[in-house]
Amino acid sequence: MLSLQQFQEVVKNHFENTNLDKEPKNLYAPISYILELGGKRIRPVLTLMSTAVFDGDYKQALPAATAIEVFHNFSLIHDDIMDDAPLRRGKPTVHEKWNVNTGILSGDAMLILAYQYFENYKPEIFQKLAKLFSKTALEVCEGQQYDVDFETRTNVTIPEYLKMIEYKTAVLLGAAMKMGAIVAETSEENGNLIYDFGLNLGIAFQLQDDYLDAFGNPETFGKQVGGDIIENKKTYLFLKAMEFATANDKQQLAHLFSIQLADNVEKIEAAKKIFVESGASEATKKAIANYTLKAFETLEKMAIDGEKKAILKAFGENLMGRNV
Ligand code: IPE
Ligand code: MN
Ligand code: MN
Repeated sequence: MLSLQQFQEVVKNHFENTNLDKEPKNLYAPISYILELGGKRIRPVLTLMSTAVFDGDYKQALPAATAIEVFHNFSLIHDDIMDDAPLRRGKPTVHEKWNVNTGILSGDAMLILAYQYFENYKPEIFQKLAKLFSKTALEVCEGQQYDVDFETRTNVTIPEYLKMIEYKTAVLLGAAMKMGAIVAETSEENGNLIYDFGLNLGIAFQLQDDYLDAFGNPETFGKQVGGDIIENKKTYLFLKAMEFATANDKQQLAHLFSIQLADNVEKIEAAKKIFVESGASEATKKAIANYTLKAFETLEKMAIDGEKKAILKAFGENLMGRNV
């Protein structure tokens, strides 16, 4: 099996050689733009690795891996509109560089393009992939709606938050891995175990995304630091702070997260201070480690050799150590 770095190289080269530019330019240029901004390419790497873990030919997984990455980037274009985000991967978001209508339509086209990649597979595989993809994509929409609903709710609970991030983020990592298993034509049980591995890694990933949204380095993070605070997102940091903070701080935080301000610098600083002093930021780091460990426990249940487990573990550890 290839090493993690080799898989990353394969995916990088694959996307460098994928050209989606066509007429009309205003439909396809934003698609190329967001895909060429790169990103970590986590999901396609997971799909390829999963096929290889189950002794399939990873090259066969390239169309499914591309479908997942195109879908993911579509969801980012629409998410950035919904979150009013100015920056993605260190560059202007699609709706900022073009406009909201362009973001909507180019996003729609990407969702359809994603489905088209499954046409590369024989009928039995096609059906399994398309079925999993449809279920997952709907869950992502459900997660996105919860996320938006929570912005204006004041009584969001941790279990509700966990369900929201499972849907908006983690199911896609699970599905990316299960697709790799489907392409390898391994057992249903293996497919479900690797799905769980991806799902728990995905929860850890989103918890860390929330952490970095507040505490990332603006020079390297690639997104607007404090974006979640500006948008009153009920993240793990916020919910834990509302659990642990002093009565005074709780009141201040609740107030801060019930308003929209013209100048957000003070709001961000005040919220971050409470996140740190209450112990919420430490609690978030612990939760990230716990969900990563949970993913590793699933690995132990799988009948695959140690070398393969080590590669998947390396991936999880890399994710935990990331700062973008
Ligand atoms: C995005 O969640 C989830 C989807 C695009 C489906 P976030 O809004 O938390 O992600 P970032 O921080 O903008 O990347
Ligand atoms: Mn967002
Ligand atoms: Mn969002």
